[in-house]
Amino acid sequence: MAFDSLKHKAVKSEDGSFTAYSNEFEEHYHSTKDGALHESLCKHVYPALKHTQEKEEIFILDICFGLGFNTLATLYALKNSNKKIHIYSPEFDEDLVQSLVDFNYPKEFYTYKNIISVLAKTQKYESKKLSINIFLGDARVFVRETDIKFDIVYQDAFSPSTNPLLWTSEYFKDISSIMKKDAILTTYSTALATRIALEENGLKVYLHKGEGFRNATLASKIDLDYEKVDVAHKMRCNPQVNSLKD
Ligand SMILES: C[S@@+](CC[C@H](N)C(=O)[O-])C[C@H]1O[C@@H](n2cnc3c(N)ncnc32)[C@H](O)[C@@H]1O
Repeated sequence: MAFDSLKHKAVKSEDGSFTAYSNEFEEHYHSTKDGALHESLCKHVYPALKHTQEKEEIFILDICFGLGFNTLATLYALKNSNKKIHIYSPEFDEDLVQSLVDFNYPKEFYTYKNIISVLAKTQKYESKKLSINIFLGDARVFVRETDIKFDIVYQDAFSPSTNPLLWTSEYFKDISSIMKKDAILTTYSTALATRIALEENGLKVYLHKGEGFRNATLASKIDLDYEKVDVAHKMRCNPQVNSLKD
């Protein structure tokens, strides 16, 4: 099956890796400016793996699978590691998942071609140290119904204005309840409404900034070694902003 379809088409991003544009959501899957691979590694994978480096086994919630960059970039970043990894990723676009066998991935992901074809066919991949499960359905339902507790949450849905139901306070309540005490959540969103929703649900909010990528957000129930965002102060300065609600 060709990747380009009426729903989405591949687009080259600034680091040379391809992302896609969704005609349905009218948005790119990644920041074309930061680059798909670069964004995935810098905003999600590196801070999350740094935070969990002492753990021998990690449970990751990848919201949502999309082109699978966050899952594949995790494997790439852990290629010399002995950790046991379990990745769960909701995605409601079954055609998209099936078409990933034809997606033009960066060379860093070439060794995972077999994993991609198995996932495209069965949505499950299992080896000694790795399990990946794509849940074909609504992320809200998965988050509400799973009894797994996660070490890492990659919050990488389309933007709050495009896909608000994956950014509401009620949604983050469910997310918070399936995060372990020391879990970390990563997201590209720096919107105050998102940060309020995180804080309303017991998560401390941190600014994640670095060379070569736009600012992002990290959150955890415990203290992190990053610049804490003073959400209460920002709310006083922007009284018109509130968290999104269902
Ligand atoms: C920004 S893309 C994810 C990018 C992905 N993390 C990657 O690295 O390629 C958002 C994805 O969320 C999916 N999606 C949107 N709303 C959803 C929902 N309620 N449940 C499950 N998947 C959803 C879309 O089909 C799309 O593939």
